[in-house]
Amino acid sequence: MSSVLILNGPNLNLLGTRQPEVYGSTTLADVEAMCAKAAEKLGLSVTCAQSNHEGVLIDHIHAAKGVHGGIVLNAGAYTHTSIALMDAIASVELPVVEVHLSNIHARESFRHTSYIAPVAVGQICGFGAKGYVLALDVLADILNNK
Ligand code: DQA
Repeated sequence: MSSVLILNGPNLNLLGTRQPEVYGSTTLADVEAMCAKAAEKLGLSVTCAQSNHEGVLIDHIHAAKGVHGGIVLNAGAYTHTSIALMDAIASVELPVVEVHLSNIHARESFRHTSYIAPVAVGQICGFGAKGYVLALDVLADILNNK
C-alpha cells in the first residue's frame, strides 16, 4: 500500500479558531480525519504531521524519503519565504502536492509567490479542507501509475 505524508506548517494547528472567515471552521483534527477517510477509499495509508518550525518541517521531508511515496504539503506562510523548504523538496525527489485552504492568488500580493510551486507536481488552493482530499486523489493516481 502506498503511503502519503500529510504535512502542515505554521499556525495550521490553530485551524478552526484562526481567522475562520478566511480558513473556515474545520479544525486540523477534522482535516486529518478527512484525509484518513479519503485515503482508505483510495487504497493509501496516511501519516499526519504539523510543525510551527521550518527546520522540523525540513526534517519531516527528509525522513519521508524511502518511507512515503508522496507528500501533501501546506507550508503555511513558509510557502512564501522558504528557499530551504524548496531545496528540501527538490532533494528528496518525492511528488509533493501543494495545498492551501484559501485562494492565495486572491489575497495579499506577498501570498502570490510560492517557493513550493516550482518543485511541486501542482498546487491546489481555495477549496478549503477539500483541497487535501483532492491532493490525495492526485497522489493516488501518480503512485498507482508507478
Ligand atoms: C495558507 C495560506 C498562507 O498564505 C498562510 O500563511 C497560511 C495558510 C492556506 O492554507 O490558505 O498560513 O497556507
